[in-house]
Amino acid sequence: MEYKITTRNEMETIELAQNFESEKFPNMIICLQGDLGSGKTVFAKGIASALGIEETVTSPTFNIIKEYLTGEMSFYHMDVYRLNGQIENIDLESYFYKEGIVVIEWADMIEKYLPEERLDIKIKIVDEDTRVFIIKPLGKMYEELCEAVL
Ligand SMILES: Nc1ncnc2c1ncn2[C@@H]1O[C@H](COP(=O)(O)OP(=O)(O)OP(=O)(O)O)[C@@H](O)[C@H]1O
Ligand SMILES: [Mg+2]
Repeated sequence: MEYKITTRNEMETIELAQNFESEKFPNMIICLQGDLGSGKTVFAKGIASALGIEETVTSPTFNIIKEYLTGEMSFYHMDVYRLNGQIENIDLESYFYKEGIVVIEWADMIEKYLPEERLDIKIKIVDEDTRVFIIKPLGKMYEELCEAVL
C-alpha cells in the first residue's frame, strides 16, 4: 500500500506533518527521502510545532541529531546526510526506543540500520511550490496510522 499526497505550498506540508502528529505514538519513526530543498525539514518543523515545541527547528546537518524535549512528546530530528552511511559513531538505534517521535532526513542513506516497522516518505519536487509525497507504511501500526490520517 502506498499513498500519494500533493502539497502546493510549505503550509500544506506543515499541515500534512501535523496530521501525522495528531495520531502519534511512542517510538513513531518517520523516514524521509528526497532531494535537497524538497521539504524534509519543513515536514519536521510541522511535527515539532504540533508537539508544541517552540524552539526553532533547523536542519541538523552538522549535529546529525537534535533533541527537543519540551514538547508533548520527545522529538528526535536527525539528518544523516553527512554520515555517508557510517553510523558507527552515533548510537542511532537507541533513539528508536526513547518513547519519542523520530524524524530522519536522508533515511535512505542508512536504510539497513532502520527498524523494519516505520513510515517511509519519499518527497518529489514537481515545481517550485509543488511536492508529491509518496507515503509507504511498513508494519501494522503504520498502516493504521495512514488509515487514520490520510
Ligand atoms: N509544497 C512545499 N512543501 C515544502 N516546502 C516547500 C513547498 N513549496 C516550496 N517549498 C520550499 O522548499 C524548501 C524546502 O526546504 P527544506 O529545508 O525543507 O528542504 P530539505 O528537504 O530539508 O533539504 P535538505 O536536503 O537540504 O535538508 C523551503 O524553502 C520551502 O519554503
Ligand atoms: Mg533538511
